[in-house]
Amino acid sequence: MKKYKVGYTAGVFDLFHVGHLNLLERCKEMCDVLIVGVCDDNYVTEIKKKTPVIPEQDRLRILNALKCVDRAELVDWEITNDKMLALERFGFDVLFSGDDWKGTERYNKTEAQFAPLGVSIEYLPYTQGVSTTDIKNKMK
Ligand code: CTP
Repeated sequence: MKKYKVGYTAGVFDLFHVGHLNLLERCKEMCDVLIVGVCDDNYVTEIKKKTPVIPEQDRLRILNALKCVDRAELVDWEITNDKMLALERFGFDVLFSGDDWKGTERYNKTEAQFAPLGVSIEYLPYTQGVSTTDIKNKMK
C-alpha cells in the first residue's frame, strides 16, 4: 500500500528529459493517483520570461502518455503560484516539489496552510546534470 492516495506536482516539462521522468516516477511510487499540472505557455513567457520550445498542448500530450502519470492538465499562473487553488481544483493529499523549494517563504506559507487540512508536502531530490536550460544551451 502506498503512503498517499492522490498526489499532485506541477512544472513546465519543456523538452521532456530524464530529470523530469525521475521526479514523476518517484512521485508515483508514493501515491496511487498522480495528477500533474502542466504550466501553460502564458505562464512560461510572462512569469518565467522564457519561450517554451514545445507548445503547451504537446507538452500536455507527452505528460498524459506517461505510465507514471494518471492525469495531466494545463494550469495557469494563478494555480501555479497559489497551491491552495491547486488543492481546491485537484483535491490531493500530497504535494510533491523539488527540494530546492524547501525553506522558501512561499513553501513555508503553503506548509502552514496545508497542515490543518491534513495535506502533506514531500520534497524530492532534483536530478543533477540535466535541465531544459542545459539542453537549450547545448543546442546553441
Ligand atoms: N526536475 C528535477 N530534476 C531536473 C529537472 C527538473 O527533479 N534535473 C523537476 C523540477 O524540480 C520540477 C519538475 O521537474 O519539479 C519540472 O521542472 P521544470 O522547471 O519544468 O524543468 P527544468 O529542466 O528544471 O527547466 P528549466 O531548466 O527551464 O528550469
